[in-house]
Amino acid sequence: MMRMIRVVLSVLALISFAVAQPSPAWTNDPQIESRVEQLLKQMTLDEKVGQLVQYSAGAPTGPGTGRTDYKKLAAQGLLGSLSNITGASDTNAMQKLAVEKSRLHIPLLFGLDVIHGYRTEFPVPLGLSATWDPALVERASRVAAKEASRAGVRWTFSPMVDIARDARWGRIVEGAGEDPYLGSAIAAAYVRGYQGAKLSDPDSIAACSKHFVGYGAAEGGRDYNTAEIPVRLLRQVYLPPFQATVDAGSATFMSAFEALNEVPASANAFTLTQVLRKEWGFKGFVVSDWNSIGELIPQGVANSGEVAAGKALLAGVDMDMESNLYGPNLAALVKSGVVPESVIDESVRRVLRVKFALGLFERPYVEGKAPDGIAPQDLETARQAAEESFVLLKNEGGTLPLKANGKTIALIGPLADDAGQMLGSWSAKGNPKDVVTLREALTKQVEATQGHVLYAKGTEIMGASDSGFSDAVGAARKSDIVVLALGEDAFWMTGEAGSRAHLDLPGNQQQLLEAIAATGKPVVLVVFSGRPLVLNWAAQHVPAILEAWFPGVQAGPALANVLLGVSSPSGRLTVSFPRAVGQEPLYYNHFNTGRPADRADLSRPPKANDEKFVSRYVDEQNSALYPFGFGLTYSSVSYSPTTVSATTLGAKDLNAGTVKLTVSAEVRNTGTRAADEVVQLYIRQTGTSIVRPVRELKGFRRVTLAPGQSQKVEFTLGREELRFWNIELKNVVEPAQLTVWVAPDSTQGKPAQVTIAP
Ligand code: NOJ
Repeated sequence: MMRMIRVVLSVLALISFAVAQPSPAWTNDPQIESRVEQLLKQMTLDEKVGQLVQYSAGAPTGPGTGRTDYKKLAAQGLLGSLSNITGASDTNAMQKLAVEKSRLHIPLLFGLDVIHGYRTEFPVPLGLSATWDPALVERASRVAAKEASRAGVRWTFSPMVDIARDARWGRIVEGAGEDPYLGSAIAAAYVRGYQGAKLSDPDSIAACSKHFVGYGAAEGGRDYNTAEIPVRLLRQVYLPPFQATVDAGSATFMSAFEALNEVPASANAFTLTQVLRKEWGFKGFVVSDWNSIGELIPQGVANSGEVAAGKALLAGVDMDMESNLYGPNLAALVKSGVVPESVIDESVRRVLRVKFALGLFERPYVEGKAPDGIAPQDLETARQAAEESFVLLKNEGGTLPLKANGKTIALIGPLADDAGQMLGSWSAKGNPKDVVTLREALTKQVEATQGHVLYAKGTEIMGASDSGFSDAVGAARKSDIVVLALGEDAFWMTGEAGSRAHLDLPGNQQQLLEAIAATGKPVVLVVFSGRPLVLNWAAQHVPAILEAWFPGVQAGPALANVLLGVSSPSGRLTVSFPRAVGQEPLYYNHFNTGRPADRADLSRPPKANDEKFVSRYVDEQNSALYPFGFGLTYSSVSYSPTTVSATTLGAKDLNAGTVKLTVSAEVRNTGTRAADEVVQLYIRQTGTSIVRPVRELKGFRRVTLAPGQSQKVEFTLGREELRFWNIELKNVVEPAQLTVWVAPDSTQGKPAQVTIAP
């Protein structure tokens, strides 16, 4: 009997051991490491170099190599990765060459820009960030991973986690805006979504954190341009979202195009080796951006492709995307002694580690047939994401939600019925046929309530002709209210190489807006854009403005729901909307000057007799037209004063991680409708060794409040939130005077004071 009990106990112990023991992370799996070493030992130098080469099977986004012999290379074991190839039959056919024909049978890794969806297109990333809902971002990227992996794509070139403080930069659309705290939370959510529970699951895809680093600080907001970022600022603002992705397990990184502090990001040993590998312990591989190794030549740090290849590899770029310089040059560089073979070995290890982690050696092929179309539950996620992404910027006199019953609504504008535009930039396999436009959805919903929608395009997005104006004005006159769908061209004006020097409505859309407003009918302006636009005129003359970004396949239903009040808008800005292009770069978390303008009346540009010698423009206000964190709902929410759990804390204790501060406020829905409120926590520190921002986001929470409901929202501040890179470049909590606000946006809230004593 005793023996039996012992046996049962030991079996139970084994089971509980098995349950308690999680499988090791791919970054630290002894089995993967030994398989990598076994394989590496068998590889010739040419085969090793082959693993560090990527070519593209199509869709170039810049000058490509034009190499079309990738099939031959794959069969010879001289290709590590191929991009822009999708679908089970094409990827399987390519994979077969690598796995069955090549000497060592190493599978290829297929990569693609799956940026905000594969087939199910979600809002563009800037829109997704406006949800302030990392769990939703994670769900959206999970959908993308499932769809992409079924098509053989096990690697996405996403997330883009570049902090962008300049709305002129076209690629601001691809990131999460201007804030490192929110940016880090969202960056990690993308990685979790793409990579799933385990990288080896067949529906997981490897993430690629890009563009490392500083790409978003391109001078003048002009794409590919130089960035100068002092090292402390780099650590304070630009690096944290990247580090958050390493902590979340991101399998790959992409080195950026620009010269960062005079050293191109794709040949930058400080960022790629010192910070990424040595400080953060990154175990995956770094791929260059498209031809960014070749671009070391025009940038001026290499006079030949051979030198460029050597510099990039030695700095820490493991894989060459499309420069066609590693393949032809690395073996010779090893033979001439410029590149030690051990450096090649290390890069190959990193690539193989990710391939093993993805389970590509066990399952190189896509099995089963992918469904053609979008699953209903994914469509639902796309709708929810779009709805949460819209930001209500203005709503005078309760213009919204529309009272559509039996009413006539004029729907006017070039973006009201353009399915392709709704997909936004980088839309992978997004199909305009999957898109429901605002015109379709609004017409359907309004007609269901005996209302009527009159549609007129009015003009083209970048139009110069006003021949459509009279129809549009006519439609407005016949209606009770006008919904104007205006904005940017998703493909030409946003995304890569989509920088703008002007931030107005493009073409003659401003004239159309003014012509419609002149009819005297109430106007709801729906703005489709990949960046903040200058909306001063609309802010003064139009009662309601809704920022819709590019919402994806469910653009129409989501917009109709919000416009008609089926749901309340709940997005918040993650970028500051300027009053004039001349304010750019414009961001809320700036430093104070010695002559802050708060001695003057800031609600208007200065007049002749005002105090002149303060830090302000003489012809414009300093502030954003719509600040970071801002967004209205159909309800109203009040905030109590901010309360804190202690008024003094010790810096030593904070640094040791032994104390935390609790900060809270009571938020109350004082309106008559349910609403999601994004409660935000901001701090400011003074008396420190270096200047700190006037406000920094350090927490946020989306809460749903029924009419009349109130909730205490609590945050904690500890070492992680309070430390910064100080005058000695140490990342510590310093003694300081700390101001904290629990607030609805970056300009509001009733502060509380705390002393951080030595
Ligand atoms: C260039 C872009 O900068 C990068 O974001 C993208 O992933 C690659 N091209 C591949 O298409």
